[in-house]
Amino acid sequence: MYREKYKSYIDLIGSRLSEKRFIHSVNVAKAGVALAERYGGDKEKAYLAGILHDIMKEEKPEIQLQMLKRHDIMTDTVTLGARPLWHAKTGAIFCKEQLGIDDQDLLNAIAYHTTGRANMSQLEKLVFLADYIGEERDYQDVDVMRAETMISMERGMRYALAFSIRDLVNRDKTIHLDTVAAYNFVTSQLNER
Ligand SMILES: [Fe+2]
Ligand SMILES: [Fe+2]
Repeated sequence: MYREKYKSYIDLIGSRLSEKRFIHSVNVAKAGVALAERYGGDKEKAYLAGILHDIMKEEKPEIQLQMLKRHDIMTDTVTLGARPLWHAKTGAIFCKEQLGIDDQDLLNAIAYHTTGRANMSQLEKLVFLADYIGEERDYQDVDVMRAETMISMERGMRYALAFSIRDLVNRDKTIHLDTVAAYNFVTSQLNER
């Protein structure tokens, strides 16, 4: 559907990512479009954000750290200590600076795809959820995650965020405050219903 239009970006992630992660990115793009069809939102942006969301995932940590410092993003110890969070922020920087993408909502969807945050835009939610339910995903309880996401976006978000927070605590990892804020936001929304 958008494959022809965004061929250069697809080729670019093909050159920057392992085959496994390339397939994951294409699947996130497709899942984002499917979710936009179900819940509304910009299908094309969901596709493009899905293709690009992990573009920095395999970049060297030193290079990512430099980028974060240059942009004053490395202001909290949680981010500094949690390398898996870096690629979301550096991905957004790369898309803006190297690819010339200036759509702020699209950049935010990439920047917050790992942590989430309070009051996410429709596009941010589409990409966040698509990352968890893409076709190749096979973690334990992925079927529950898919089922919750089919009930509502908020149910999917709450499940994913609770899953992520529990997993981090179980592994003695720190939890970014944006993740806590995202969890509180959707949980309050659901409890008010
Ligand atoms: Fe990611
Ligand atoms: Fe991803």
